[in-house]
Amino acid sequence: MKTDLSRFGRGTQTLHAGRDPSANFGVVNPPVYHCSTVLFESVEELLETRRDRASGAYEGFTYGREGTATTRAFEDAVTLLEGGYRAVTTSCGLGAICASLTAFLSAGDHLLIVDSLYGPARAFCEDFLRKFGVEITYYRPSVGAGIEALIQPNTKVIYLESPGSLTFEMTDVPAITKIARARGIKTVFDNTWGSPVNFRPLEHGVDVSVNAATKYISGHSDLMLGIAVCTKEAFIPVKATASGSGYCGGPDDVYMALRGLRTLPLRMKQHHQSALTIAEWLQARPEVARVMYPALPSDPGHAIWKRDYDGASGLFGIVLNACTDKQFAAMLDHMDLFKLGYSWGGYESLVVPTYPSDLRSAVTWEAPGPSIRLHVGLEEVDDLIGDLERGFARLHAAA
Ligand SMILES: Cc1ncc(COP(=O)(O)O)c(C=O)c1O
Repeated sequence: MKTDLSRFGRGTQTLHAGRDPSANFGVVNPPVYHCSTVLFESVEELLETRRDRASGAYEGFTYGREGTATTRAFEDAVTLLEGGYRAVTTSCGLGAICASLTAFLSAGDHLLIVDSLYGPARAFCEDFLRKFGVEITYYRPSVGAGIEALIQPNTKVIYLESPGSLTFEMTDVPAITKIARARGIKTVFDNTWGSPVNFRPLEHGVDVSVNAATKYISGHSDLMLGIAVCTKEAFIPVKATASGSGYCGGPDDVYMALRGLRTLPLRMKQHHQSALTIAEWLQARPEVARVMYPALPSDPGHAIWKRDYDGASGLFGIVLNACTDKQFAAMLDHMDLFKLGYSWGGYESLVVPTYPSDLRSAVTWEAPGPSIRLHVGLEEVDDLIGDLERGFARLHAAA
């Protein structure tokens, strides 16, 4: 018999959600269904699944693209953690963003987007949504209740990401969702930084919470997957848009993401603890002009983070004091542990140079020197500090 998990803490829920050994020969983990075709016993059964799909219930399984019991196990687990109605799995995080936006937007509608959103999501809005007649306005991350002044009669969606990509500015989510709800505007939130263990967007009034499961949920840098957790009202449009647009996750990736999810709370605690130690160490370095990490008490977004979040991730930004391109490259080219790479959320540390000024339109980006994004992985923190220390020594030596 399935245990009622609602009375347990999130750490316990993460271990037990989305699996039912009693329905699976006692095996602890759910099976991986490799599937395109689903067979029906009769015309009546086939017609029943057509009705199920047409009504938007999506209870049964009809075709591989719409998911299998493996997908449902993953969706149920993330939904339990984030507190939504149901979730939709997509082939990657960007797919979950695109499906969630197109679910609620048509030609002639207006979309409000936070200025610090993930670059490829911005590119999707600029290159595709604009092409199909959606009007777009960017708002500053600190807008809060000031969002009201930007709303137009045709505003249909407000898109949020907090902290924002590259610059890590916090947005007051409840201040925005309160206004959006009152006006019937849908809100879509990118929760990849917080992850389902540190932030529950739907409890703060969001309609669709998107996670790039590619990052912390899977946690091992070996797959691409996205998931959109929805309110009851938002589920049908997002599910219909995702499956109608061809977004679906492969069975092995879904299984591995569910496997990764089991250790998410433990991993997040360590990412937070190590990142905070390193962020504080960086704050005291003469080469560093600014550390952008809302878990730092001195960060402008700290009060909002503390109010709404249960923890922080291992991802943050720094701005260096002015240095030459040669010095910057000397530092980043030879890191032993912080390897150069675009992703994050895995067990290992990463670094990438960032260029926030290329991706801002509502707020001008001002910085004395180049910027870096660090992902603090699960290595020992002294080893990571040593790696950064040697990087700064190379920067000076290249002067
Ligand atoms: C904040 C954020 N959201 C979404 C995505 C997109 O995820 P994916 O790479 O799985 O498409 C990324 C990827 O880097 C990201 O950083």
